[in-house]
Amino acid sequence: MSEATADPRPRSSTFRRAEPVLRVERLNHWYGDTDETRKQVLFDNELQVARGEIVIMTGPSGSGKTTLLSLLGALRTVQEGEIEVLGQPLHRLRGKQLVQVRRDIGFIFQAHNLFGSLTALQNVRMALELKERDRTRIHNRAVEVLSALGLGERIHYKPARLSGGQRQRVAIARALANCPKLILADEPTAALDEQSGREVVNLLKKLAVEEGCTSLIVTHDNRILDVADRIVGMANGRIKSNVLLQQAIEICEFLKQSETFAHLSTSTLTNIAEVMETEKHPAGGIVIRQGDAGDKFYLIKSGEVDVILNKGTANERVVATLRKGQCFGEASLLTGAPRNATIVARQEAEMYTLDEPNFQSAIALSEPFRKELEKILFQRQ
Ligand SMILES: Nc1ncnc2c1ncn2[C@@H]1O[C@H](COP(=O)(O)OP(=O)(O)OP(=O)(O)O)[C@@H](O)[C@H]1O
Ligand SMILES: [Mg+2]
Repeated sequence: MSEATADPRPRSSTFRRAEPVLRVERLNHWYGDTDETRKQVLFDNELQVARGEIVIMTGPSGSGKTTLLSLLGALRTVQEGEIEVLGQPLHRLRGKQLVQVRRDIGFIFQAHNLFGSLTALQNVRMALELKERDRTRIHNRAVEVLSALGLGERIHYKPARLSGGQRQRVAIARALANCPKLILADEPTAALDEQSGREVVNLLKKLAVEEGCTSLIVTHDNRILDVADRIVGMANGRIKSNVLLQQAIEICEFLKQSETFAHLSTSTLTNIAEVMETEKHPAGGIVIRQGDAGDKFYLIKSGEVDVILNKGTANERVVATLRKGQCFGEASLLTGAPRNATIVARQEAEMYTLDEPNFQSAIALSEPFRKELEKILFQRQ
């Protein structure tokens, strides 16, 4: 879904959206000090990531992934544009303040920097000692994380006696032991076999679900795509695509179940899913009002809504209740007629929405789709 940028369109009063953990706006970056060597490597990037999201970033070598990651991790100074991380505006912070932000971030970068004279366990314990005093808790947590990454048998080994992949996993254990609020990882599974790579992503997923940790992972490893909530593609210093993967899959599954969209090709459904946005309505909130002009198509993500005719009059009548996976609002977009009913959330409800221009271009992609819709709507009269 391309909702990465701030949306200037007015929202209904009931609309709410979670605060992002990470916000990038108009970000440009250059390398080189002199006019001859100065080269722009990031161009006008925008990105928003919500709490608990796992974002996978891909793109060709030299496209700017590591540069972007190091700016997000407060390892480089923002030159132009804005970056907000965990509520802190990095573009306004300097020195010690940036160090403070880094404390809440778990870095998994390629150079592991393990202490050669310390065992795997001691390396992980050191990271924990920065935030925790209880020695038993420190020990137990270090063993737990190392075991989750398949190193339970090797906790007393020093780095020299571990393989490259095992060292990489100790470094990952050290970065994740403190349950950082944000995890920035650059090719964390590149040196790992399938099983070890899976253990790493399982741990990231567990931290996301249990602790609300947000992860941004640069990777070319398509074996771990299934863990991603969002996939961001970079090319030539720009974010070229930004897709909410799990959401797109869910939308396609819902649309496939509906009579209106069932026969559409997967690629048309994916095009629709990619431009849908989400909005929440509280219990009792009016989603659409009978008589208003149609401006959006809705698909219910969670919760229930009532379809009410003549609301507020003596003839008020609930004619249907719609649930997760069901859709509404397409009729007036297709016919241009006003909304023919009022829709009210029975309980807090979350919707996927498609605005009119995107709806029209989605159906324009498919002539059979338009014909089919016209037929269905005609039969409904
Ligand atoms: N320290 C530096 N000084 C000058 N130019 C740099 C520096 N680091 C990176 N670059 C250049 O900036 C561009 C983006 O590099 P970056 O390392 O961000 O790409 P990347 O997408 O991470 O690539 P890879 O997949 O190979 O790791 C490249 O053209 C690279 O040559
Ligand atoms: Mg890189």
